[in-house]
This record gives sequence, structure tokens and C-alpha cells, in this order.
Amino acid sequence: MSDGPMFYLATAGASADPVTRLGWGLLAISCAVVLIVAILLAWALWRRRPELASDPQGRLPVARTGPGLRWVWIGVAISTLALFVSTVWTLQTLAAVRHPPRAPAFTLQITGHDWWWEARYVGAAQGQDFTTANEIHVPVGQPVRLELRSADVIHSFWAPKLAGKTDLIPGRTNVAWIEADRPGVYRGQCGEYCGLEHARMALQVVADTPAGFQDWLARQLAAPAPAVSPSVAAGAAVFQARCAACHAIRGTPAEGIYGPDLSHFAGRATLAAGTQPNDTVHLAAWLADPQALKPGNEMPRVPLTDGDRASLVAYLQSLK
Ligand code: CUA
Repeated sequence: MSDGPMFYLATAGASADPVTRLGWGLLAISCAVVLIVAILLAWALWRRRPELASDPQGRLPVARTGPGLRWVWIGVAISTLALFVSTVWTLQTLAAVRHPPRAPAFTLQITGHDWWWEARYVGAAQGQDFTTANEIHVPVGQPVRLELRSADVIHSFWAPKLAGKTDLIPGRTNVAWIEADRPGVYRGQCGEYCGLEHARMALQVVADTPAGFQDWLARQLAAPAPAVSPSVAAGAAVFQARCAACHAIRGTPAEGIYGPDLSHFAGRATLAAGTQPNDTVHLAAWLADPQALKPGNEMPRVPLTDGDRASLVAYLQSLK
């Protein structure tokens, strides 16, 4: 369980770790409180009481003298102490994760859409900002600043291994940060119900070594490779005719902003915001009927011949 992708009590970064320690601490305090109350309750139920003496008319007294009130005061004192410790610890943790320990490496502007993630890299590569979608790469050991916005309804950025949740709210920009302390793929998930496909609004955060991240940046900034086969060339033409109004591919005339940016699409591990693996079978099925795989999403069924669809698959898979 502890290595499950969404298990938030085992984290991997400076933005999440203090919250995790707090989570475990509050869990321990809560368990101790429940245990103590249960033991006292059991003891009160099962202990033998001294017999009450009746008066000469056979009546029992309605009041009992004894040390009962003392226990109330002890209980109030212990509860107050536990709540005080929890409050101070929570405030300390909030202060600790408010700002990263070092200046962030760059800014990632993340925009939530129904139901996918747009990610714009600002200041990561010298003078060249660029956009991608649903799979973001970050360098290990460096904080990355997040500017979180929404294009439609309220979403919430939640990569539990890397940071707590921060909402994406229409009309405002929320700021957060993430840092991964070891390489790996960290799953993120929209954390706020945002409509029919809320559960299929996932993202991957890939933490690369610094050298691996520079390689990834260089690949992102490279122009698409020339078509290596007639099928890829045909697919590029189909894309410009049928897909380019909504999707962009850097270095081509396709500049649509309505759907996810597909530059270097083949480098991503998943399709449709974490819904399916990005392989030939699922990509062809997605292009044939996006509504079957993710009902209600904004991508319409685009009528394509089988040949055009196969070319389109070949072209998209060439965008490494
Ligand atoms: Cu976006 Cu839930």
C-alpha cells in the first residue's frame, strides 16, 4: 500500500514531507485519544460499584459523593493539551511549506480544463517558453513554482507524493510549489469534482535527473523531425486538415489552443489525461471514438477513413 501512487502518507519531496509528518502525528494523536476513551469507557462499564445503602424507609440516595468531578478536569486538561499541540504543529507546518527552501528553478503555469491539464514552462529554457499537456517533467532536487489557473470550473492540483492540494479557481491564480527528491513518475489527479470525467483527469509528474531533464527540454524545443515515411507525411496532412483547429504542434502551422498541445505527443506515457496507455491500439481506438473511452469529453468523433486514421497514428507516433 505504501508505494501506491496516491498513498499520501509516504511522500518524496520538501513540499510534501512536513505535511506527511503532521499527518502521521495527528493520526497517532487521534488513535491515542480513541484508545484512551475506549479503555476508560470499558473500565467504567465493567468495574464493580460499592453497594448503595438505603435509608430506613428503603429509599436509595439520588446523589453520589466521591471523586468523579476530578476526572472531568483531568480529561479537559489532556484534551486541551492535545488540541494545543495539534494547532501549533499545524501552523508551523503551514509556514514551513508556504515557500520553497531555495529559489525555484522555473515556473510552471498549469491550467485546468474539463478534463485535462495544460502546462506552460516559463523560464525553464533560455528565452523559449513552451506548452505541453498532461505529463510534466521536473528536475530532481529543485523546487518548481506552480501558477495554477482554470479555464472553466474549479479543479484541484493534487500530486500527493509531491505536495498538498491546491485548487485551480476560475478568475484567479493560486501559487504553489513542488519538489521531487528522487527520480520517478509521480501520479497526480484532479482533487476537486469538476464534472463527468473528473476521475479521468490525471497527470504524470516525471522527475528526471538534472541531465535527463536537460535532454527532455532539448527534445521539447526541437522542431518535428522530417517525415520518415509516406504514411507519416500523409498523417501530417490529415492532422493539418482535421485536427489543427483545436490542437497545436510546434514547428507546424497547427496552432489550435482548444485541446491539448500535441508537440512531442509520442513522448508521453498516457492518452487523454491518464485515461489510457499511449500505444498504437489505444491511440487508434481514441481517434476512432473519443467518446467511447471518455464520454462527455470535448473531442468530437472526427470521421476518418481507416487509411487516414492509420496515417494519423503513424504521424502522432513520430512526434517523439
Ligand atoms: Cu478537474 Cu476534477
